[in-house]
Amino acid sequence: MDNAIAKATRIISEGRRIFAFTGAGISVESGIPAFRGPGSVWERYDPRNLDIDYFVQHPEKAWPVIKQIFYNFMGSHAQPNAAHRTLALMEAAGHLDCVVTQNIDGLHQSAGSKRVHEFHGTASRVVCLGCRHTMPAAEADLSPDVPRCPLCGAVLKPDFVFFGEGIPADAYEPSSQAARHADVCIVVGTSGEVMPAGMIPIEAKRCGATVVEINTTPSTFTRSITDIFVQGKAAEVFAQIRLPYIDRP
Ligand code: APR
Repeated sequence: MDNAIAKATRIISEGRRIFAFTGAGISVESGIPAFRGPGSVWERYDPRNLDIDYFVQHPEKAWPVIKQIFYNFMGSHAQPNAAHRTLALMEAAGHLDCVVTQNIDGLHQSAGSKRVHEFHGTASRVVCLGCRHTMPAAEADLSPDVPRCPLCGAVLKPDFVFFGEGIPADAYEPSSQAARHADVCIVVGTSGEVMPAGMIPIEAKRCGATVVEINTTPSTFTRSITDIFVQGKAAEVFAQIRLPYIDRP
Protein backbone atom coordinates (compact mmCIF):
# COMPACT_ATOMS: atom_id res chain seq x y z
CA MET A 1 0.00 0.00 0.00
CA ASP A 2 1.55 3.33 -0.98
CA ASN A 3 2.40 5.83 1.70
CA ALA A 4 -0.40 8.29 0.83
CA ILE A 5 -3.06 5.56 0.99
CA ALA A 6 -1.63 4.31 4.29
CA LYS A 7 -1.77 7.83 5.73
CA ALA A 8 -5.29 8.40 4.37
CA THR A 9 -6.42 5.08 5.85
CA ARG A 10 -5.02 6.03 9.26
CA ILE A 11 -6.61 9.51 9.25
CA ILE A 12 -9.99 8.10 8.17
CA SER A 13 -9.84 5.20 10.66
CA GLU A 14 -9.11 7.61 13.51
CA GLY A 15 -11.69 10.19 12.35
CA ARG A 16 -14.79 10.62 14.52
CA ARG A 17 -16.79 13.26 12.65
CA ILE A 18 -16.11 12.57 8.99
CA PHE A 19 -17.95 13.87 5.93
CA ALA A 20 -17.26 13.47 2.23
CA PHE A 21 -17.37 16.23 -0.38
CA THR A 22 -17.71 14.73 -3.86
CA GLY A 23 -17.63 15.93 -7.44
CA ALA A 24 -18.00 14.52 -10.93
CA GLY A 25 -14.76 12.54 -10.68
CA ILE A 26 -16.27 10.03 -8.27
CA SER A 27 -18.74 8.97 -10.98
CA VAL A 28 -16.28 8.76 -13.89
CA GLU A 29 -15.64 5.05 -13.24
CA SER A 30 -19.42 4.60 -13.38
CA GLY A 31 -19.30 5.84 -16.96
CA ILE A 32 -20.38 9.44 -16.36
CA PRO A 33 -17.96 12.00 -17.85
CA ALA A 34 -16.58 14.83 -15.73
CA PHE A 35 -17.38 18.44 -16.61
CA ARG A 36 -13.76 19.62 -17.03
CA GLY A 37 -10.63 17.99 -18.37
CA PRO A 38 -9.92 15.79 -21.41
CA GLY A 39 -13.11 14.39 -23.04
CA SER A 40 -15.27 16.25 -20.53
CA VAL A 41 -18.83 17.56 -20.86
CA TRP A 42 -17.83 21.20 -21.30
CA GLU A 43 -15.36 20.22 -24.04
CA ARG A 44 -18.29 18.86 -26.04
CA TYR A 45 -21.25 21.00 -25.04
CA ASP A 46 -21.74 24.73 -24.47
CA PRO A 47 -22.29 25.42 -20.71
CA ARG A 48 -24.54 28.30 -21.83
CA ASN A 49 -27.32 25.70 -22.06
CA LEU A 50 -27.15 25.43 -18.28
CA ASP A 51 -27.32 29.17 -17.68
CA ILE A 52 -30.70 29.97 -16.13
CA ASP A 53 -31.31 33.17 -18.11
CA TYR A 54 -30.47 31.44 -21.40
CA PHE A 55 -32.67 28.47 -20.49
CA VAL A 56 -35.67 30.69 -19.66
CA GLN A 57 -35.24 32.67 -22.91
CA HIS A 58 -34.41 29.72 -25.19
CA PRO A 59 -35.75 26.47 -23.71
CA GLU A 60 -36.18 25.08 -27.23
CA LYS A 61 -32.40 25.39 -27.71
CA ALA A 62 -31.28 24.38 -24.22
CA TRP A 63 -33.53 21.35 -23.58
CA PRO A 64 -32.25 19.20 -26.51
CA VAL A 65 -28.66 19.67 -25.30
CA ILE A 66 -29.63 19.04 -21.66
CA LYS A 67 -31.32 15.79 -22.68
CA GLN A 68 -28.22 14.67 -24.55
CA ILE A 69 -25.96 15.36 -21.57
CA PHE A 70 -28.11 14.27 -18.64
CA TYR A 71 -31.02 12.14 -19.76
CA ASN A 72 -30.30 10.25 -22.96
CA PHE A 73 -26.91 9.17 -21.62
CA MET A 74 -26.49 9.62 -17.89
CA GLY A 75 -30.02 8.77 -16.93
CA SER A 76 -30.50 5.05 -16.70
CA HIS A 77 -27.25 3.15 -17.31
CA ALA A 78 -24.84 4.38 -14.64
CA GLN A 79 -24.27 2.21 -11.55
CA PRO A 80 -22.47 3.23 -8.35
CA ASN A 81 -18.82 2.14 -8.07
CA ALA A 82 -16.61 1.07 -5.15
CA ALA A 83 -16.10 4.70 -4.10
CA HIS A 84 -19.85 5.36 -3.73
CA ARG A 85 -20.29 1.99 -2.02
CA THR A 86 -17.48 2.57 0.47
CA LEU A 87 -18.97 5.90 1.54
CA ALA A 88 -22.38 4.23 1.97
CA LEU A 89 -20.83 1.43 4.06
CA MET A 90 -18.97 4.01 6.17
CA GLU A 91 -22.29 5.78 6.86
CA ALA A 92 -24.01 2.47 7.69
CA ALA A 93 -21.20 1.71 10.18
CA GLY A 94 -21.76 5.11 11.81
CA HIS A 95 -18.35 6.30 10.63
CA LEU A 96 -19.48 8.94 8.11
CA ASP A 97 -21.85 11.79 8.99
CA CYS A 98 -22.95 12.62 5.45
CA VAL A 99 -21.99 13.13 1.84
CA VAL A 100 -22.09 16.64 0.39
CA THR A 101 -22.17 16.10 -3.35
CA GLN A 102 -22.03 18.46 -6.31
CA ASN A 103 -23.26 15.59 -8.47
CA ILE A 104 -26.80 15.31 -9.77
CA ASP A 105 -26.57 11.64 -10.81
CA GLY A 106 -28.07 10.10 -7.66
CA LEU A 107 -25.33 7.45 -7.47
CA HIS A 108 -24.63 8.03 -3.76
CA GLN A 109 -28.26 7.20 -2.96
CA SER A 110 -28.19 4.22 -5.35
CA ALA A 111 -25.13 2.93 -3.42
CA GLY A 112 -27.13 3.12 -0.16
CA SER A 113 -26.07 6.49 1.30
CA LYS A 114 -28.97 8.03 3.23
CA ARG A 115 -27.56 11.39 4.36
CA VAL A 116 -26.70 12.99 1.01
CA HIS A 117 -26.83 16.76 0.60
CA GLU A 118 -27.24 17.50 -3.11
CA PHE A 119 -25.58 20.90 -3.27
CA HIS A 120 -26.46 21.29 -6.95
CA GLY A 121 -29.85 19.59 -6.83
CA THR A 122 -30.68 16.51 -8.87
CA ALA A 123 -31.40 15.43 -12.44
CA SER A 124 -33.87 12.87 -11.08
CA ARG A 125 -36.57 15.54 -10.61
CA VAL A 126 -38.05 18.21 -12.88
CA VAL A 127 -39.76 21.39 -11.70
CA CYS A 128 -42.32 23.61 -13.42
CA LEU A 129 -41.18 27.19 -14.01
CA GLY A 130 -44.83 28.27 -13.76
CA CYS A 131 -46.56 26.55 -10.83
CA ARG A 132 -43.40 25.05 -9.22
CA HIS A 133 -44.93 21.55 -9.39
CA THR A 134 -42.16 18.93 -9.11
CA MET A 135 -42.17 15.36 -10.35
CA PRO A 136 -39.67 12.54 -10.94
CA ALA A 137 -37.96 13.04 -14.29
CA ALA A 138 -38.67 9.36 -15.01
CA GLU A 139 -42.43 10.08 -14.82
CA ALA A 140 -42.32 13.25 -16.91
CA ASP A 141 -42.83 13.27 -20.68
CA LEU A 142 -39.45 14.64 -21.80
CA SER A 143 -40.02 13.70 -25.44
CA PRO A 144 -41.20 17.15 -26.71
CA ASP A 145 -38.46 19.61 -27.68
CA VAL A 146 -39.63 21.65 -24.69
CA PRO A 147 -41.17 19.43 -21.97
CA ARG A 148 -44.15 21.08 -20.32
CA CYS A 149 -45.91 20.87 -16.98
CA PRO A 150 -48.86 18.44 -17.00
CA LEU A 151 -50.70 20.77 -14.59
CA CYS A 152 -50.26 24.25 -16.03
CA GLY A 153 -48.46 23.80 -19.34
CA ALA A 154 -45.49 25.99 -18.41
CA VAL A 155 -41.91 24.91 -19.25
CA LEU A 156 -40.40 22.16 -17.09
CA LYS A 157 -36.78 22.53 -15.90
CA PRO A 158 -34.46 19.84 -14.49
CA ASP A 159 -34.35 20.35 -10.71
CA PHE A 160 -30.62 20.87 -10.60
CA VAL A 161 -28.88 24.20 -10.04
CA PHE A 162 -28.20 26.11 -13.24
CA PHE A 163 -25.44 28.68 -13.49
CA GLY A 164 -26.92 31.88 -12.06
CA GLU A 165 -29.24 30.05 -9.64
CA GLY A 166 -28.91 29.85 -5.85
CA ILE A 167 -28.04 26.76 -3.83
CA PRO A 168 -31.03 24.93 -2.31
CA ALA A 169 -31.29 26.01 1.34
CA ASP A 170 -32.01 22.42 2.40
CA ALA A 171 -28.58 21.48 1.07
CA TYR A 172 -26.53 24.57 1.91
CA GLU A 173 -27.20 24.71 5.65
CA PRO A 174 -26.56 21.04 6.56
CA SER A 175 -23.48 21.03 4.32
CA SER A 176 -22.05 24.07 6.10
CA GLN A 177 -22.89 22.49 9.45
CA ALA A 178 -21.09 19.26 8.49
CA ALA A 179 -18.06 21.30 7.45
CA ARG A 180 -17.97 23.25 10.72
CA HIS A 181 -18.11 20.13 12.89
CA ALA A 182 -15.91 17.72 10.96
CA ASP A 183 -12.55 16.42 12.09
CA VAL A 184 -11.96 14.81 8.67
CA CYS A 185 -13.16 15.93 5.23
CA ILE A 186 -12.70 13.43 2.40
CA VAL A 187 -12.67 15.37 -0.90
CA VAL A 188 -13.25 13.10 -3.90
CA GLY A 189 -13.13 13.86 -7.61
CA THR A 190 -13.66 17.60 -7.76
CA SER A 191 -11.72 20.41 -9.44
CA GLY A 192 -12.86 22.81 -6.71
CA GLU A 193 -13.49 25.40 -9.41
CA VAL A 194 -17.17 26.06 -8.72
CA MET A 195 -18.37 28.27 -5.88
CA PRO A 196 -20.02 28.37 -3.43
CA ALA A 197 -19.74 24.56 -3.37
CA GLY A 198 -15.95 24.82 -3.18
CA MET A 199 -16.27 26.77 0.08
CA ILE A 200 -17.47 23.64 1.94
CA PRO A 201 -14.07 21.89 2.18
CA ILE A 202 -12.43 25.29 2.77
CA GLU A 203 -14.79 25.90 5.72
CA ALA A 204 -14.04 22.41 7.06
CA LYS A 205 -10.31 23.14 6.94
CA ARG A 206 -10.80 26.55 8.57
CA CYS A 207 -12.68 24.86 11.41
CA GLY A 208 -9.90 22.35 12.01
CA ALA A 209 -10.67 19.34 9.82
CA THR A 210 -7.91 17.26 8.24
CA VAL A 211 -8.49 17.17 4.48
CA VAL A 212 -7.89 13.92 2.61
CA GLU A 213 -8.17 14.44 -1.15
CA ILE A 214 -8.59 11.72 -3.79
CA ASN A 215 -8.19 12.85 -7.37
CA THR A 216 -6.47 11.74 -10.56
CA THR A 217 -4.86 15.18 -10.85
CA PRO A 218 -4.18 18.03 -8.42
CA SER A 219 -7.12 20.42 -7.95
CA THR A 220 -7.40 23.96 -6.61
CA PHE A 221 -7.67 22.37 -3.14
CA THR A 222 -4.44 20.36 -3.42
CA ARG A 223 -2.09 23.28 -3.08
CA SER A 224 -4.21 25.17 -0.54
CA ILE A 225 -6.14 23.02 1.97
CA THR A 226 -5.30 19.38 1.29
CA ASP A 227 -3.35 17.59 4.01
CA ILE A 228 -3.08 14.18 2.31
CA PHE A 229 -3.35 13.93 -1.47
CA VAL A 230 -3.99 10.45 -2.85
CA GLN A 231 -3.48 10.53 -6.60
CA GLY A 232 -5.61 7.95 -8.32
CA LYS A 233 -9.02 6.90 -9.55
CA ALA A 234 -11.64 7.11 -6.83
CA ALA A 235 -12.95 3.53 -7.11
CA GLU A 236 -9.42 2.09 -7.20
CA VAL A 237 -8.22 4.18 -4.24
CA PHE A 238 -11.26 3.41 -2.09
CA ALA A 239 -10.80 -0.28 -2.82
CA GLN A 240 -7.34 0.04 -1.17
CA ILE A 241 -8.51 1.97 1.90
CA ARG A 242 -9.00 -0.95 4.25
CA LEU A 243 -11.49 -0.27 7.04
CA PRO A 244 -12.28 -2.92 9.68
CA TYR A 245 -16.02 -2.95 9.02
CA ILE A 246 -15.69 -3.22 5.21
CA ASP A 247 -14.56 -6.51 3.75
CA ARG A 248 -15.17 -5.63 0.11
CA PRO A 249 -16.66 -2.33 -1.17
N1 APR B 1 -11.29 9.52 -9.86
C1 APR B 1 -11.09 10.64 -9.12
N2 APR B 1 -11.08 11.89 -9.64
C2 APR B 1 -11.29 12.00 -10.96
C3 APR B 1 -11.52 10.89 -11.81
C4 APR B 1 -11.51 9.61 -11.21
N3 APR B 1 -11.70 8.48 -11.92
N4 APR B 1 -11.69 11.35 -13.09
C5 APR B 1 -11.60 12.69 -13.03
N5 APR B 1 -11.35 13.08 -11.77
C6 APR B 1 -11.22 14.45 -11.25
C7 APR B 1 -10.62 15.45 -12.21
O1 APR B 1 -9.21 15.48 -12.07
C8 APR B 1 -11.24 16.76 -11.72
O2 APR B 1 -10.45 17.36 -10.71
O3 APR B 1 -12.53 14.91 -10.98
C9 APR B 1 -12.56 16.33 -11.10
C10 APR B 1 -13.75 16.70 -11.93
O4 APR B 1 -13.82 18.11 -11.94
P1 APR B 1 -15.08 18.80 -12.64
O5 APR B 1 -15.36 18.12 -13.93
O6 APR B 1 -14.83 20.27 -12.60
O7 APR B 1 -16.29 18.40 -11.69
P2 APR B 1 -16.78 19.12 -10.39
O8 APR B 1 -15.63 19.62 -9.58
O9 APR B 1 -17.74 18.21 -9.72
O10 APR B 1 -17.59 20.37 -11.01
C11 APR B 1 -18.33 21.16 -10.12
O11 APR B 1 -19.25 22.32 -12.04
O12 APR B 1 -20.25 22.37 -14.12
C12 APR B 1 -20.48 22.44 -12.77
O13 APR B 1 -22.47 21.91 -11.69
C13 APR B 1 -21.36 21.32 -12.30
O14 APR B 1 -21.35 20.17 -10.17
C14 APR B 1 -20.54 20.59 -11.25
C15 APR B 1 -19.55 21.66 -10.83
